[in-house]
Amino acid sequence: MDGFFITFEGMDGAGKTTQSRYLRDYLERKGYTVVFTREPGGTPIGEQIRDILLDPSNAGMSEITEALLYAAARAEHVRELILPSLQKGFIVISDRFLDSSIAYQGYGRNLGNLVTEWNEAAVQNVSPDVTFYLDLSPEEGISRVEARTDGKPDRMEQEEASFKKRVYQGFQSLAKENSGRIVRIDGSMKPEEIRDLIFAAVDERMLQR
Ligand code: TYD
Repeated sequence: MDGFFITFEGMDGAGKTTQSRYLRDYLERKGYTVVFTREPGGTPIGEQIRDILLDPSNAGMSEITEALLYAAARAEHVRELILPSLQKGFIVISDRFLDSSIAYQGYGRNLGNLVTEWNEAAVQNVSPDVTFYLDLSPEEGISRVEARTDGKPDRMEQEEASFKKRVYQGFQSLAKENSGRIVRIDGSMKPEEIRDLIFAAVDERMLQR
């Protein structure tokens, strides 16, 4: 497998979507084939699961159901899109992957290691070559989400502040425990500064392959 798998992680409002688009455009300008995708979603079935997960009218969903649905969307994503693309030698950029489940469901919903176990079959040993974690405090994330003008907050964004604090702790722990894979970037920096750090890190890691 010659492809290269890049993921973006962080709290809602941290700027992952903007940064992942910058990186896609940069790598495409260099002539690479880039598959640009997101979780939950990225496949027709995954996008349907996404709609269920983010629909505010499903506010009463059990945390077990939630964790299994994220894992189910991921199983589909890995089999239908990520693995086949990596096998063709493409670069895959995903806005969120397994770390989000560990942070949101493992830490946020207090499901702990169950989340890792349930995701084993979903990810099939696929692991990102590099993960950019945009580190933004929960308070700052909440105020950025509130300031957004593109639609109403989804089911996860409507969660209480204490949940978001646990999710944040989860991301911090993941970044510490996986410092080889996860590049932590201060999400309060200017978008252009973050962009340049990411471009440099990708160039370096792709050269080392
Ligand atoms: P995202 O696409 O980042 O939201 P937006 O479209 O608002 O930028 O992610 C959707 C939400 O799903 C987000 O609140 C994080 C959450 N999530 C989990 O709880 N677990 C997961 O495994 C994933 C992938 C996302």
